[in-house]
Amino acid sequence: MFAPMSLVKYEEARPWARSIRQRVSTKTMPPWGADPAHGVFKNDPRLSDQEIATILAWVDAGAPKGDDKDMPKAPSFVEGWTIGKPDVVFTMTEDFKIPPTGVVDYQYLRLPTGITEDKWIQAIEIKPQARAQVHHVLAYTQPTGSPLNEGGALGPGNIGGVTPNKPGVVFEPGVGRLLTANSDIVLQMHYTTNGQATTDRTQVGIVFAKDVPKMQQRGGSVIQPRFVIPAGAPAHEVRGSRVLAVDTLITSFTPHMHVRGKDMTYIAKFPDGTTETLLSVPKYDFNWQLSYELAKPRLFPKGTEIEVIAHFDNSPANKFNPDPTKDVRWGDQTFEEMMIGFWGTVVDRPATTSSQK
Ligand code: HEM
Repeated sequence: MFAPMSLVKYEEARPWARSIRQRVSTKTMPPWGADPAHGVFKNDPRLSDQEIATILAWVDAGAPKGDDKDMPKAPSFVEGWTIGKPDVVFTMTEDFKIPPTGVVDYQYLRLPTGITEDKWIQAIEIKPQARAQVHHVLAYTQPTGSPLNEGGALGPGNIGGVTPNKPGVVFEPGVGRLLTANSDIVLQMHYTTNGQATTDRTQVGIVFAKDVPKMQQRGGSVIQPRFVIPAGAPAHEVRGSRVLAVDTLITSFTPHMHVRGKDMTYIAKFPDGTTETLLSVPKYDFNWQLSYELAKPRLFPKGTEIEVIAHFDNSPANKFNPDPTKDVRWGDQTFEEMMIGFWGTVVDRPATTSSQK
């Protein structure tokens, strides 16, 4: 289960009626951060005004059950996985002990796959066991037996990642990611301590594609590591940009900052001089690092500049701020900051992989 409780059956939803009223009327549930003025996203879960009115009327009428014969058929889910039943599950070979306090450096944990021919991933879900202590996981492949390459996390061998409250990823038909033959999956694990000692054994569930896909899912980003957010600053601006070196088909945007992240905007500056806001997340929330998946993948011509503008709230008014008296720079840890505007792209599948033999 993903959320704290299931709302599938009447008996499950009934005790939550008041809380549902509160979350739905304040629009904090279902979770979503994109300003509707910019972009159309296929995973936009927002309820219509009419749906909200129906839910509020139901709660205000005492949350009645209604007639059994009107009950829609319950959707069926595979227990524990949002991607359906995985074909294979790779599990960390040992427990990782997370101490109750202190800072844990990034861990790079290798999961042997034993796979001897290239396989295409249709869906992937990374499931930390110690959910409260896992800040993020990035998964990538590297050849079995080769020395650890820590830089591989955001390279072409990346096969997925997860941040708090994020479900698995199912690629469109005809699009996949490559699980290279004779490689290990490396998990870049960022554990954060929260007062409680525990252990973690993260799992990676994969559904393989039935056919070799035409396109490969990849990623790009604007990363701006050069900034100092002054102590107490309520809206410190940091900008970064990248000019696309080739025509690029973009499928999604994923803003990434830490707990001082306040908002993020992606702007395209086209070679013909026009500009367009692609995504605006006016109230960024570290606990809800969503990917905004475009309703239609969009081709950006070579030479387009993608500019990402972020603001950080380092003031005491930010309830997530661990220390408003400190200047903050780029760093791996949650009390430091990052400024990354990721995007997803699809590219033609490379011509030679062992699965085409
Ligand atoms: C109409 C749809 C939804 C309703 C009515 C709803 C309702 C709620 C309510 C009432 C709570 C508060 C529970 C508490 O007090 O402990 C909650 C929390 C939560 N929900 Fe939802 N939810 C919806 C959709 C979703 C979706 C789509 C997701 C996942 C993508 C999700 C994930 C969570 C999580 C992780 C929490 C705990 C964190 C928090 O309290 O913010 N919910 N939801």
